[in-house]
Amino acid sequence: MKNLVIKTVNLTKKYGDFTAVKSLNLEIYEGEFFCLLGPNGAGKTTTFLMLLGLTRPTYGSAWIYGHDVTKNPLEAKKRVGFVPEVPGLYDDLTARENLVFTAELNGVPKGIREKRIMDLLEKVDLKEWADVKVGKFSRGMKQRLAIADALIKEPKVLILDEPTAGIDPKGSEEILSLLEILSKNEGITILMSSHLLHYVERYGDRIAIMSRGEIVAMGEPSSLIKGESVIELNLKEIDNLLVSELGGIKGVKEVRREGNKIIVLAGKDIRKEIFEVISRRGDKVSGVSFAPSLEKIYAKYFKEEKA
Ligand SMILES: Nc1ncnc2c1ncn2[C@@H]1O[C@H](COP(=O)(O)OP(=O)(O)OP(=O)(O)O)[C@@H](O)[C@H]1O
Ligand SMILES: [Mg+2]
Repeated sequence: MKNLVIKTVNLTKKYGDFTAVKSLNLEIYEGEFFCLLGPNGAGKTTTFLMLLGLTRPTYGSAWIYGHDVTKNPLEAKKRVGFVPEVPGLYDDLTARENLVFTAELNGVPKGIREKRIMDLLEKVDLKEWADVKVGKFSRGMKQRLAIADALIKEPKVLILDEPTAGIDPKGSEEILSLLEILSKNEGITILMSSHLLHYVERYGDRIAIMSRGEIVAMGEPSSLIKGESVIELNLKEIDNLLVSELGGIKGVKEVRREGNKIIVLAGKDIRKEIFEVISRRGDKVSGVSFAPSLEKIYAKYFKEEKA
């Protein structure tokens, strides 16, 4: 079992009568790349600010590596690097000088400072730009430097608020693949927000869709496959023939087996066809759930929010 890194229980933030984040329950594990997706005003930034101890929850609690973010903020914060929506970099300093400044602030010992900075610049692919003033950088480069900046204190968790906002597709890909490498190769837990579904669907281990302060859907990116529905069947026993029979139903895009569960992704509602197969075969089904795909849910909430 993987380490639980971020946990929230009924985390709530109210501004007067308005509830920006409503009873949020999240569990994020070590090395996970977790995307919080939601339209403007959904409550993403407010959630992050609470996790970072920068704003107090109205109710509920949050822990990072078991440290309560309100009761023990310093212990929690020590382990978290934050990349805000608008990174606080100095345009008139070079990339290296910016990182030296942050390293000093974080008390990185002088003897190891230079090496850590050059390693980080290499990691974010800015080594050749080390001595160029940040004012000359593209937005994508600035964002990558901001990631290096957040990594100076060697955090175990990285929280990024819309790291691809305003960055072109190529720059966004570079950022997302960098984050993927950090989570996969270094075991850093990544929590990022975005309001663009199509960028995050190919990255990330899990995606949660937030709307009006609440998580309305959560799942793995595979359930984002374009389509109408995701059907989960819990069975006493699974045989491969059933998997292939379900795969043969018209409209099915993917059939996946997870333990004693079968997950069927389909381009339309095929519940009836599935039940026909199962009742003919006499499989013992102990549970069924049906949900629209995350893509559908996202489209629905995004439209509502815009309207
Ligand atoms: N300090 C504040 N005072 C009052 N309302 C606030 C405050 N901060 C945020 N809100 C409100 O809380 C809601 C959630 O805001 P939040 O910034 O968390 O959303 P978001 O998902 O980050 O949106 P965006 O995609 O625009 O960054 C919004 O309706 C916002 O207006
Ligand atoms: Mg925000």
